[in-house]
Amino acid sequence: LTIATIALSLSVSAGAVAAACDDGEIVIKFSHVTNTDKHPKGLAASLLEKRVNEEMDGKACMEVFPNSTLYDDDKVLEAMLQGDVQMAAPSLSKFEQFTKVFRLFDLPFVFKNIEAVDEFQNSEAGEKMKSSMERRGLKGLAFWHNGMKQMSANKPLVTPEDARGLKFRVQPSEVIKAQMEAIGVSPQPMAFSEVYGALQTGVVDGQENTWSNIYGQKFFEVQDGITETNHGVLDYMVVTSTDWWEGLPEDVRTQLGTIVEEVTAERNAAVSEVDADARQAILDTGTEIIELDDAQRQVWVDAMKPVWDQFIDDVGQDNIDAAQQINL
Ligand code: LMR
Repeated sequence: LTIATIALSLSVSAGAVAAACDDGEIVIKFSHVTNTDKHPKGLAASLLEKRVNEEMDGKACMEVFPNSTLYDDDKVLEAMLQGDVQMAAPSLSKFEQFTKVFRLFDLPFVFKNIEAVDEFQNSEAGEKMKSSMERRGLKGLAFWHNGMKQMSANKPLVTPEDARGLKFRVQPSEVIKAQMEAIGVSPQPMAFSEVYGALQTGVVDGQENTWSNIYGQKFFEVQDGITETNHGVLDYMVVTSTDWWEGLPEDVRTQLGTIVEEVTAERNAAVSEVDADARQAILDTGTEIIELDDAQRQVWVDAMKPVWDQFIDDVGQDNIDAAQQINL
């Protein structure tokens, strides 16, 4: 490839993205941080983009920017309030500056699986959470699922004791920091786009994430096995700016809202399959997945669950009780 052909293909692909938007259409930029293939958020955002561009042609157009190409999650919400981006779907661990109610989802072992998370989010208490940031200018449109988190490090982890003294990258969540400290791990908050490099160079020793993120970011390449702890949830809130949303013509807002709802239902229903595919794809690379028996898993529960006590005032005992009820 000559420089000229590279330049040409870049300008053609930039033109192709912009071609989704015609003069007079409302431009919706959707920024996110994951890959698009074998990934629940990547697939959902791409489907949303496709449907908006097909069904709202002439009124609105969407451009999705995946892989942190536009913003990291620590910048995207401010950019949204400035009007530089209209939609994003950060994980629920990334809203600390805006609300503490999502801390519920970060509590270790609070939901037994993604079906339980789904049921809670569709309850009245869950629905109410979507509007928890409106006074700060952010409107929650939908919860999108990813999956349960696993642990990995540069050594095999069977017991929490194996992780003691290591440094783990964490999302910027006080609950996750406390959970790591509870097992003697030093939590290092860091943008998602920086994790692979930090694991590779030994800036951190380990991390926790879902199968699709471990696969999509290739963390398995720079870790010594992954332990299937299913110890926590990683889920998303699709957000937009309240001002922008309320300023849309009513027909546009209604149609866009319906498309978001339908894409959410379709992709959330398929999430277990995407999760299982990513897990299998990791196994296919020859990476070891350490499975825990009930007694071994209970040791992780006993070590981490006491952090709940520190956050009851933020999340509400009633929400914890509701989550526990759903787990039964
Ligand atoms: C992370 O930072 O690990 C995740 O929130 C990334 C994502 O969007 O799934």
